Amino acid sequence: MKIKALNGFKDIVPGEVELWQKVENTARDIFSRFNFSEIRMPILEKTDLFARSIGEATDIVEKEMYTFIDKQITMRPEATASLIRAYIQHGLHVQKPVQRLFTIGPMFRHERPQKGRLRQFHQMDAEVLGTATPRVDSEIMAMGAMLLQELGITVSLEMNSLGCPACRPGFREKLLHFIEERMDKLCDNCKRRSKTNPLRVLDCKNPRCREEVEEAPSILEHLCADCDEHFTQVQKGLQDLDVQYSLNKFMVRGLDYYTRTTFEFITEDLGSQAAVGAGGRYDGLVEKLGGPKVPGIGFALGMERLILLLQQQEDVETDSATVDIFVASLGDTASEFAFPLVHALRQKGLLTAMDHEGRSLKSQMKQANKASAKFVLILGENELEQGQAVLKNMATQEQQDIAILSDNNEMASSLLERCQ
Ligand code: HAM
Repeated sequence: MKIKALNGFKDIVPGEVELWQKVENTARDIFSRFNFSEIRMPILEKTDLFARSIGEATDIVEKEMYTFIDKQITMRPEATASLIRAYIQHGLHVQKPVQRLFTIGPMFRHERPQKGRLRQFHQMDAEVLGTATPRVDSEIMAMGAMLLQELGITVSLEMNSLGCPACRPGFREKLLHFIEERMDKLCDNCKRRSKTNPLRVLDCKNPRCREEVEEAPSILEHLCADCDEHFTQVQKGLQDLDVQYSLNKFMVRGLDYYTRTTFEFITEDLGSQAAVGAGGRYDGLVEKLGGPKVPGIGFALGMERLILLLQQQEDVETDSATVDIFVASLGDTASEFAFPLVHALRQKGLLTAMDHEGRSLKSQMKQANKASAKFVLILGENELEQGQAVLKNMATQEQQDIAILSDNNEMASSLLERCQ
């Protein structure tokens, strides 16, 4: 019996991997334009890190984490908590007052797999630590928007503010009162959530619950003066940078660490998995994880969802490498000669391929065509004896005889010159 990959775990094979490289290369380019440095963290962390940051009562921590119970370690379900753990552990706040960090890698959540939702998925995550200025909120959203735009992906940016420990409790009480009046009409999940985190009732996907909360009080009308001013400035910043956005008072996010600005990049082209990326500010998180009192903000883009969107487009250009020179050899002697020559060509920097199976010239030319080889060097047994080989330019179909040099290095240099 064949062994298949686990449900919700996916191989990324040639043909698709080029799109991943394109997405990753574009992201690295944009992140570096915005002066971000890369950081890489381990996949396994202490379970407590996620319970303390994401929140005990969230779906992620309650039911989606891959945890080794006996060891109390968990495969990271997201990057933010790990990144902040590393930030604190290495005293990165001492090295630089404001750190702009990004990371790219796999995350793990035991969710029900469907299109755009996997159990191992990949995030491109960017975080700015050490500043509470609303400008950074605008800047980081503008960075996400620029990245998506450069990839040719159309999204809308939705934004909300979740207030701070000064204003959220008051809003929570008001909301709870509103919910209690309609409790019997809400789904079981909402009934349960109203006890642990009533704000989450606002983003229930059940159409009946949605209808019921339509008239719910808006947090934006209950922000304290500081949060209100911050949010006004964030919006001004987006307008200054010409980034389109809309306000969504129902957006509460599924992670507990957020304060003030939260946002999502939404697509209409992926059905129910509409968020291609999301993030927000978390001004109390670093301190909560035992670090200094440092504010932060960030977002993560879901790579699988970006890839699906690119696959839906026609003619997406990828920069997949093509073969510079295919060395076709006929017979054992030619093949013996070709083997080290191919190595020397690679040392000179040429993407070089050859066939090791002694196939016919026709078959080797087919392989060269399939690899879109720019040149083919044909080494025949007879030609070799006469010290000659044929170099064919595949674009023009022109052929030229070239002299075989006994020194591989010299031969490779002469080919390099002709193939440029
Ligand atoms: P999140 O909303 O849980 O936020 O995930 C961010 C993005 O990751 C989602 O918008 C989605 O594109 C992708 N994603 C999440 N779960 C899956 C899944 N099961 N399969 C495929 N893609 C998925 C966070 O993780 C926060 N750490 C974001 C953040 C960074 N906030 C501040 N800094």
